[in-house]
Amino acid sequence: MKIGIIGVGKMASAIIQGLKTTDHEVIISGSSLARSKEIAEQLEVAYAQSHQDLIDSVDLVILGIKPQMFEKVLAPLSIDKPILSMAAGITLERLASMSKQDLPLIRIMPNINAQILKSSTAICANEHVSDDLFTEAKAIVESFGTAFVIAEKDFDTFTALAGSSPAYIYLFIEALAKAGVKYGLPKDQALAIVAQTVMASSQNLIEGSDTPHDLIDKICSPGGTTIAGLLDLEKTGLTASVISSIDATIEKAKQL
Ligand SMILES: NC(=O)c1ccc[n+]([C@@H]2O[C@H](COP(=O)([O-])OP(=O)(O)OC[C@H]3O[C@@H](n4cnc5c(N)ncnc54)[C@H](OP(=O)(O)O)[C@@H]3O)[C@@H](O)[C@H]2O)c1
Repeated sequence: MKIGIIGVGKMASAIIQGLKTTDHEVIISGSSLARSKEIAEQLEVAYAQSHQDLIDSVDLVILGIKPQMFEKVLAPLSIDKPILSMAAGITLERLASMSKQDLPLIRIMPNINAQILKSSTAICANEHVSDDLFTEAKAIVESFGTAFVIAEKDFDTFTALAGSSPAYIYLFIEALAKAGVKYGLPKDQALAIVAQTVMASSQNLIEGSDTPHDLIDKICSPGGTTIAGLLDLEKTGLTASVISSIDATIEKAKQL
């Protein structure tokens, strides 16, 4: 498939690294012809003379522009190709109204881990997307991580659980590392210990058959250190605090 990308910033650049591991041909168009040339050279992909030239030459158009640019960028264009959008808050219905025709539309929500081709990405599509096209779109998403097929109504929840949560997880990692520093470890060593532990704890959950509760029970020996710390975490309300932050994230996503 020939894939055209309009707007190549942080997220589209990460996605292109994934696409380069596939057989798809990639062409881009940036905020100006000069920017297209510059980015194409950096990422070693082809560039189009204009957004319309790109649209006319590809099988799928990926929009990597910011949500607030959609109206302005799409208005002068005539799009007759399937579109894949990664924009936060732009629903398939809104995209359909901006693209003027009854086009096959796919919406995805990637996260920062696309940078290392490990994005958790939600995907959904409108009724004009064939099974074959959806399978191709899912394979594109899998070139930069893991795809989660979810209903569009759950995108705001996904945005909180996978889009924003890395920031909350980094805060937790930073807090644990600070505790290490408090008790005398150098910061870089404390961070390495915690990051490795967080990664292996996730892997243990994903690769094994234990639930988080099973693993917690295995770590908490009777009368031991972990149960003391665990109960202290709940004394300051960790679960309630996490859910409250997810409430705030979803609330904000609904306002976009
Ligand atoms: N970053 C994330 O973690 C993340 C996560 C999920 C979803 N997303 C979504 O991904 C999209 C891109 O976000 P980002 O973080 O990659 O933003 P970004 O780095 O600011 O990229 C946006 C790109 O759009 C380009 N652009 C501006 N006007 C344009 C125009 N008229 N025509 C073509 N390109 C134009 C900009 O070019 P210049 O550099 O030349 O100005 C820039 O390279 C957004 O819709 C966002 O909601 C991002």
